[in-house]
Amino acid sequence: MIQKIMDEIYSVGILDWDRRLFDELIPLPDGTSYNAYIIKGKEKIALIDTVEPKFFEGLLKNLQQLNLAHLDYVVINHAEGDHAGSLPQLLENYPELKAVTNQKCKEIIMALMHIPEERIRVIEDGDTLDLGGLTLQFLMTPWVHWPETMLTYIPEKKILFPCDFLGSHLATSELYVTDNARFLTAAKRFYAEIMMPFRKLIQNHLKKLEDYEIEIIAPSHGPLQSNPSLILDAYKDWTSDEVKNEVAIPYISMYGSTEKLVLALVDALMERGITVKPYRITRTDIGELAMGLVDVATIVIGSPTVLVGPHPVVAYAAILANAIRPKAKFASIVGSYGWKGKMVEQIASMIGNLKVEVLPPVVIKGKPTEADYKEIERLAEDIYNKHKELGIL
Ligand SMILES: Cc1cc2nc3c(=O)[nH]c(=O)nc-3n(C[C@H](O)[C@H](O)[C@H](O)COP(=O)(O)O)c2cc1C
Ligand SMILES: [Fe+2]
Ligand SMILES: [Fe+2]
Repeated sequence: MIQKIMDEIYSVGILDWDRRLFDELIPLPDGTSYNAYIIKGKEKIALIDTVEPKFFEGLLKNLQQLNLAHLDYVVINHAEGDHAGSLPQLLENYPELKAVTNQKCKEIIMALMHIPEERIRVIEDGDTLDLGGLTLQFLMTPWVHWPETMLTYIPEKKILFPCDFLGSHLATSELYVTDNARFLTAAKRFYAEIMMPFRKLIQNHLKKLEDYEIEIIAPSHGPLQSNPSLILDAYKDWTSDEVKNEVAIPYISMYGSTEKLVLALVDALMERGITVKPYRITRTDIGELAMGLVDVATIVIGSPTVLVGPHPVVAYAAILANAIRPKAKFASIVGSYGWKGKMVEQIASMIGNLKVEVLPPVVIKGKPTEADYKEIERLAEDIYNKHKELGIL
């Protein structure tokens, strides 16, 4: 379906209402969209991004309905398949069309999709492409979230096309964000899962964007944003070095002992005025957990000992948390064992990326005793003191 954004600019992407898993990893509770945009200059016409290849027919139909006299350029902001994947079919259908992208992205699309070199025009940071009355300006923003990512800006319209950056996995019939809270939840989930590992680099990208007058953000997932400061301020907050007076406790318990420790810790933290959320990992989707890790000062992992190490589902969550690099400052471990094991050492070896101070764990034999609950109180007090030292409590 085609939606007019303003004179000369049309949305021609695809809504994927019932997709529920991305990259065979990330849950999509609200589906997603693959947005693509037509920019009609007086002399040249450009398409910004393509769509997931499965939906190429839909993109083609939209382009045909616009009755374009010609299609000259397709800007590839990012080489990942959900945005660049239709490029081979598109180039086949439009023999005069040239892909416009940076050198790094060119290498990747040639490797991933065997795009012929002569069909690619290479641009660099700050370069512009005149379409006749409208200018495409390219801004390199590596690592949001691949090394080749860039943004496209049209100064005459004050509109930014950031592809994945600042987007959300949210299928909605509305062209623009209407429900800010719903959008910010989806955008935070997207940030946590995809962008958070590159938090430090994003701080610089956000600074660079301050030089651009932006009235509309047109990402390649989710609705357009007519109030750019909503998402830009949220990104500034999420990527800042500040943590909040919050604790996340991802955990598993097979027979309830670890859970007793976790729930006692939750109460002890609540009594001390600390915001806390336990995530029983087998019941929580990993995106919700990722989102829960964005702001927290402290992460406590809870696991029984299983075959010497942590429960494999906890190991999976620990590896994921390590990969997405939340900015938490403190961590600890709680859990129960039956006879002997190396649960703490194994978990510690899995979270080396986290720049955390480890607070003494509470690992007990069997079901918790009074002495074990005292240790939980001690851990809660340690966390309280650390948050107080940081000035967040
Ligand atoms: C499949 C399985 C493997 C286990 N492997 C170990 C082990 O290697 N070392 C150990 O000390 N306890 C082991 N245990 C015992 C549990 O760690 C112990 O029962 C613990 O209290 C369970 O905690 P939970 O009630 O939180 O599930 C194992 C238990 C199960 C079910
Ligand atoms: Fe991507
Ligand atoms: Fe994407």
